[in-house]
Amino acid sequence: MSTAANEAAKSGSTEAAAEAARRRTFAVISHPDAGKSTLTEALALHAAAITSAGAVHGKGDRRGVTSDWMDMEQARGISITSAALRIDYRDTVLNLLDTPGHADFSEDTYRVLSAVDCAVMLLDSAKGLEPQTLKLFDVCRARKMPVITFVNKWDRPGREPLELMDEIEQRIGLRPTPLNWPVGIAGDFRGLLDLTGGGESAGAGFTRFRRAPGGAAKAEEEFVGAEQAAAEEGAAWSQAQEEVELLGEIGAVYDEKSFLAGESSPLLFGAALPNFGVGALLETLVRLAPAPAPKADTEGRERPVEAPFSGQVFKMQAGMDKAHRDRMAFVRISSGRFDRGMVLTHGATGRPFATKYTQAVFGSERSTIDTAFPGDVIALINAAALSVGDTLYDGPKVAYPPIPSFAPEHFAVARAVDAGRYKQFQRGIAQLDSEGVVQVLSSDVRGEQAPVLAAVGPLQFEVVSHRMAEEFRAPIELAHLDYSLARRTTPECAPTLHALSGAEVLKRRSDGELLMLVHNKWRLRVIEREHPDMVMEPLLAGG
Ligand code: G4P
Repeated sequence: MSTAANEAAKSGSTEAAAEAARRRTFAVISHPDAGKSTLTEALALHAAAITSAGAVHGKGDRRGVTSDWMDMEQARGISITSAALRIDYRDTVLNLLDTPGHADFSEDTYRVLSAVDCAVMLLDSAKGLEPQTLKLFDVCRARKMPVITFVNKWDRPGREPLELMDEIEQRIGLRPTPLNWPVGIAGDFRGLLDLTGGGESAGAGFTRFRRAPGGAAKAEEEFVGAEQAAAEEGAAWSQAQEEVELLGEIGAVYDEKSFLAGESSPLLFGAALPNFGVGALLETLVRLAPAPAPKADTEGRERPVEAPFSGQVFKMQAGMDKAHRDRMAFVRISSGRFDRGMVLTHGATGRPFATKYTQAVFGSERSTIDTAFPGDVIALINAAALSVGDTLYDGPKVAYPPIPSFAPEHFAVARAVDAGRYKQFQRGIAQLDSEGVVQVLSSDVRGEQAPVLAAVGPLQFEVVSHRMAEEFRAPIELAHLDYSLARRTTPECAPTLHALSGAEVLKRRSDGELLMLVHNKWRLRVIEREHPDMVMEPLLAGG
């Protein structure tokens, strides 16, 4: 390399390291209705990325947006796109990746968590931990991912803060360490005590909550000194002081090491709708959430963020243009600077991949981007050759470990409606399997003609049906199976388990794993009790 080229490469890598350091890439994990859309809006609003609530990403907004990408998407009025929202906050770039919930919950929802460095666990103050939050948390825990907890809707009647902390610690073994503390009982919320000052100044900062007239508008935040607050808030103030003292005694104080290891979780209280306590969450993301770190390749070697470009596909979006079988690949950048037009190498095939058509994804808007850095998500168009988990890189070969497949909970037998289209049927199923749209299982008993499709969410079946009919011209019929659980087993155990009633063993085509499908957890318990010597391992998340 010439000296000039050397210098250019060096300054490029310094730039990538600096840009990586100011990025925070995260997702919100929550149960439907906890307030994810509202919080997303509030974060964007607070960061001044948008001028009025509802302009980006909100539910009301989402309803109004009809994507022409997919007939199905239009028909159902839901968004299948897992969007990445960029929020510029002071000097930090926050990349918020959407985890689709409700009806669009699917394996992609879990995969998004493989593309973030941190999660915000959003809880409804009245409900605490709910099923979908628990499933998503399982994925975070498996990755030892740092989790920040935000208890939302504190403006409404809810549970006691200490009770919520106890639930989190007891049920999921995550130790909450409050960064602020509510003053006033649930439903009579007065404001938040800032505990981040530490030591003597802890509790000194009090932000008073005053509901602004008109509901959704931003609440008024008023900073009040400790003496004045003590005089004005009376009993509510003293109770909060006592609770905060107790927090110190039980050791519920922020600890960086255990947070980064996914063992403790900074806890914040607030209310997204009136935009109260949202600024504290932004500050926490900036101060405590980790910036993109070196990613380990398949050999376990960590690739520095300033190394030449590398990234991994974590989601595929199909059906933008029926005629062209177009596909979009969402890539999380792990290292280096990305420039639109770069020719990268596609790890799986070793072939060049041109990136002339690249977009950044901001809510429902897509805009063309020219440069991106570690932590950012780019969407590559015309990406028919790519699959979930594929690595793209610049320069010498890089291979990242595949994204794991997650525990399916929905199962259906697929058959070609028209036996004469069997070849297209086989090709389509194989393609959708390799893209990670659905998991494909088969067994000698059922035969190759009748593969079992396994999904995390039922939406995946709809995507398969739609694409098989539209793209592969091989319409399918699906017969849903009465199973809701899968367990990993071994060739030695398979015959015994397969012979049991209410269970069946099939092989996953992508990796050859043997999965036992079971009707429900009660049946599983009986089987486990009666066959203690059999291997029946849970799969990741939900299992
Ligand atoms: P989701 O994306 O997690 O499903 O939740 P979303 O933001 O849609 O919020 C669910 C409901 O909770 C919404 O009311 C929303 O206005 C309300 N909400 C969210 N955050 C807060 C908060 O901090 N305080 C209060 N009091 N309410 C909050 P909805 O009436 O069900 O929906 P909508 O018809 O207003 O959209």
